[in-house]
Amino acid sequence: MSSFFSFILPVLFLSSLISTQPANGQNLINETCKTLARDDPNISYNFCTTSLQAAPASQCASLHGLGMISIRLVRYNVTDTRCYIKDLMKNRKWDPYAKQCLKDCFELFSDAISSVQQAMKYYNSKRYDDANVHLSSVMDAATTCEDGFNERRGLVSQLTKRNRNTFQLSAVALSVMSEIQKGSDV
Ligand SMILES: *[C@@H]1O[C@H](CO)[C@@H](O)[C@H](O)[C@H]1NC(C)=O
Ligand SMILES: *[C@@H]1O[C@H](CO)[C@@H](O)[C@H](O)[C@H]1NC(C)=O
Ligand SMILES: *[C@@H]1O[C@H](CO)[C@@H](O)[C@H](O)[C@H]1NC(C)=O
Repeated sequence: MSSFFSFILPVLFLSSLISTQPANGQNLINETCKTLARDDPNISYNFCTTSLQAAPASQCASLHGLGMISIRLVRYNVTDTRCYIKDLMKNRKWDPYAKQCLKDCFELFSDAISSVQQAMKYYNSKRYDDANVHLSSVMDAATTCEDGFNERRGLVSQLTKRNRNTFQLSAVALSVMSEIQKGSDV
């Protein structure tokens, strides 16, 4: 019995030490998201932390790394949404107006994919102003897509959640870049 406790107690003690140890990457995500949410009304703290935490290798990323990760998330999102729109158009019969909206969104997201690729390239070479232009156009694409549905009363957008995700992820990426530009070299 006593040998059991002499084994288990140090283990409990050690694991409590480990779990209270601050994880620096997690702190950076939380701190960054706190700043972004404070400075940009388009960014929710929870959305920011949830999105970044879920990304591979985000826990040990620098601020520059978090920017890269958020642009990558935008890329996955727009690529996935483009594919989703394609399926929507194929698998259901739409009235002409709704169909036109979906077509427009498909075009917008097709362009958004090349914009985000450009943004990534510029980001990697630290040309943040150019990256900003391209990411802003991705943000606009999501807004324009959603607005198309809203122009017709009674028409429900099937893409609201996706457009919101793309919009917010782009906002996160843009804000990280502006933090980088405000600070010194990262
Ligand atoms: C970071 O935020 C998450 C959720 O907001 C929280 O669960 C976690 O404990 C925080 N981590 C640190 C190190 O502050
Ligand atoms: C929030 O989004 C709106 C709509 O796209 C944009 O005009 C505005 O500049 C954004 N706010 C910030 C602080 O970026
Ligand atoms: C798009 O972004 C949202 C918010 O971060 C995330 O929950 C979702 O899984 C992403 N989708 C893809 C396909 O990456």
